[in-house]
Amino acid sequence: MRKQIAAANWKMNLTYQQAEKLLDEILGADIVLKNHQLTIFSVPYPYLLMTRSEVEEEFNGNYKVAAQNCHHKKNGAYTGEVSAEMLHSLNINYCIIGHSERREYNAESNALLAEKVNICLDHFITPIFCCGEPLQAREAGVQNDYVAVQLRESLFHLPADKIRTIIIAYEPIWAIGTGKTATTEQAQEIHRHLRSVIAAHYGAAVADEIPVLYGGSVKANNAKELFSCPDVDGGLVGGAALVAADFIEIIKALKQ
Ligand code: 13P
Repeated sequence: MRKQIAAANWKMNLTYQQAEKLLDEILGADIVLKNHQLTIFSVPYPYLLMTRSEVEEEFNGNYKVAAQNCHHKKNGAYTGEVSAEMLHSLNINYCIIGHSERREYNAESNALLAEKVNICLDHFITPIFCCGEPLQAREAGVQNDYVAVQLRESLFHLPADKIRTIIIAYEPIWAIGTGKTATTEQAQEIHRHLRSVIAAHYGAAVADEIPVLYGGSVKANNAKELFSCPDVDGGLVGGAALVAADFIEIIKALKQ
């Protein structure tokens, strides 16, 4: 089975003390991750090392830590930025790339995201590459083309042996933080479409290996249904990942 992943995206939330408490509660829960299951905590930069040391105490190595962004250049005079090389030097192996909030507030283009994907892979960091359409595209019925362009322009320069190592998160912008979730039919349909776009370029074997997570108002009470879709391989979770009891339920909802 493809990897099934519950990824928390804390965004710009929680104090250090709140973050420690949340991690303690989640990691202290009675969850046994199977070999094909991962839980990833995407945390603010100042919490990366603390989170890494907390998850390292887990006897099961299937808890991972991700950054929420990195810069597209190797190093240099970019005040306030964090490089992939720095993340690698902290033994951080995952990074969210192209979240819709960064696309919107930081004007990150598909071309820039291609550079970020490259620099992550050069530093042994798995990108969690986000795509997803705004409401107008969904209402116009062009969501499939919209996400296909995002994949093509940011990922399809990669050779097959690289793209097969990444994680994709489909996050419809109209569902993020709105309490509005894609229906299971909508999620399955577009996840299958994303896989078919990858298959058309790289072949079905490569497309079948890549986990495609759903993000956008995943909650404890809808995760099981969403994750049961054949092409939904878990979730990238914002708000509900800030509440221990909710995120624990979401982890338990992964395909067994
Ligand atoms: P919500 O789960 O709060 O809708 O956020 C989704 C998201 O943006 C995860 O990256």
